[in-house]
Amino acid sequence: MHQEEKCKGKPMKKYKGSSWRNVDSYLSIAEVIVPERNRTIKLLVDIFGYHFEGKECLSLLDIGCGDGIVSDRIRMRYAKNNFFLLDGSLEMLEKARKRLKGENVTFIHQSFEEYIALTAGKEKYDFMYSAHAIHHLDLVGKSKLYRKIFNELKPGGLFLNIDPVLPPSEKSETWQFKMWRDWINETLHEKGFKSDIGKYDNVPSHYKSNEENKPSSLHKQLQLLQEIGFQDVDCFYKFGVIAIFGGTKQESC
Ligand SMILES: C[S@@+](CC[C@H](N)C(=O)[O-])C[C@H]1O[C@@H](n2cnc3c(N)ncnc32)[C@H](O)[C@@H]1O
Repeated sequence: MHQEEKCKGKPMKKYKGSSWRNVDSYLSIAEVIVPERNRTIKLLVDIFGYHFEGKECLSLLDIGCGDGIVSDRIRMRYAKNNFFLLDGSLEMLEKARKRLKGENVTFIHQSFEEYIALTAGKEKYDFMYSAHAIHHLDLVGKSKLYRKIFNELKPGGLFLNIDPVLPPSEKSETWQFKMWRDWINETLHEKGFKSDIGKYDNVPSHYKSNEENKPSSLHKQLQLLQEIGFQDVDCFYKFGVIAIFGGTKQESC
């Protein structure tokens, strides 16, 4: 049954939405402008499968779920689990609600800041994951969120994040932005949109100049996760600025 969990206690901090205010426009072109979108989601689902092989009835939290695409892809392969989807945008949650009809789905309308500020929850989730959302927090915000995630993960749990990361140098950024543009144009070519080739060449520079995007270096984020106590910390895949990284929480004895 669908439920909606509202924040208890303090009034919810107003989340003004991201640059993707036009939700439909983001969703319709995401497959073309977000590098390796399908591959990264597939890999996240694969890693979930490797880690939790044979297990069911797990609790999963999708942080910044958007229209629920990632949870939907997990559910297509691993349906017998409990899905919790958190986002600060009601419009996105509405899309997610339409996409993930059925049992075992709970929607949480909450900003990351509000989620972080809530008193430390119990260890309640087996798998916590996020795609293209946490880079909206600065490094301090990310650090608080990663700590909260660690606290709410059950022993033996897994955290994975698909997100853009900050290239380590200007030279590296130039290459990675070029990889990004090439990827967009190759994808347009493969999908048969040849007349659109070049149309999205400004996406990387717009992403960089948009102050809502606060990517942090992959190295620093891996270090943070290790300091917090995550194990098996690694970057499991990287294409240009897009990385999949995370870690596990140790099994209790
Ligand atoms: C680019 S979308 C990605 C959505 C989805 N994970 C996907 O891969 O398609 C980023 C999502 O994060 C949410 N978001 C960004 N900053 C947020 C914040 N501070 N609190 C809550 N949600 C936030 C946005 O509302 C949006 O739905």
